[in-house]
Amino acid sequence: MTDKPKVLVARKTFDDVVERLRAHFEVESNEADEVWSQDQLIERLQGMSGVYITGSEKIDARLLDACPGLRAVCTMAVGYNNIDVPACSARGVLVSNAPDVLTETTADFGFALMMATARRITESEHFLRRGEWRKWSYDMFAGSDVHGATLAILGMGRIGQAIARRGHLGFGMPVIYHNRSQLAPEIAAPLGAQWVEKDELLRRADHLLIVVPYSPAAHHMVGERELALMKPSATLTNIARGGVVDDAALARALAAGTIAAAGLDVFEGEPQVHAGLLAARNVVLTPHIASASIPTRRAMSHLAVDNLIAALSGGTPPTALNPEVLNRSPA
Ligand code: DGY
Repeated sequence: MTDKPKVLVARKTFDDVVERLRAHFEVESNEADEVWSQDQLIERLQGMSGVYITGSEKIDARLLDACPGLRAVCTMAVGYNNIDVPACSARGVLVSNAPDVLTETTADFGFALMMATARRITESEHFLRRGEWRKWSYDMFAGSDVHGATLAILGMGRIGQAIARRGHLGFGMPVIYHNRSQLAPEIAAPLGAQWVEKDELLRRADHLLIVVPYSPAAHHMVGERELALMKPSATLTNIARGGVVDDAALARALAAGTIAAAGLDVFEGEPQVHAGLLAARNVVLTPHIASASIPTRRAMSHLAVDNLIAALSGGTPPTALNPEVLNRSPA
């Protein structure tokens, strides 16, 4: 018998992450890395005080009501649109995410995806692998330049700023951005970043980078109307969340030449991908891996563990989203 609190690790993670949890808790871990339905997750959460999740598990009011013992929900992702935070707060459940530790890695990837898109890297590789390369020609896979082109960033949080820094300092790109709030001048100036209205951002973009967090207000923030504002030579790169871009409208825009190309790491309804995007030649597709370097995935996972341990042992979770629930006396 043990009186340690019980926690569930909802997806496979690094062994030492689970070992750290075992020092504090009775742990059940999804070692087979099965993708559970909502009902299976609820079943496995019975009797659990805490849960370690990823960006894939949905934590909503129905689940919380079915798991009244749950006290902490800690995700190893920075995005938390899969968690109903107000519903957790209303039930005294602590929620944490994993910001900061993935910022530079994710910015590296956003920049790489934009460059691959602008310079048609995967499209030309597929051509070569198909054995179609017979001769050199002056315009073979000629794309657009990145250096000196206008970098337009939609969403200017930590990751947006890290991308702006790369573009401005490394590639001499004029940087424009749109965000609900404007950066303080002392933050914007070293990034060379200028705030503009969303429509102006779209009109002026040579390379549009989308890094805005998903919320109902951000749903289809870039759809048919917005794509029509862009230059036919422009590229669009989305490393934010599926749903921020209207994928069906994007597929149509790519087919019609409304914009030149797209780089996509996130999709509406992923892991399903819109058939029109799969069929398009001028799109670089990756399976939601922007933060996937080993050191960063380790750091994200350990940050979730730090939060879980603190939340269930009277400490201060370092990156809680609703720390106010800890100060509330139990009902
Ligand atoms: C994040 O951390 O939000 C990444 O998109 C992985 O889910």
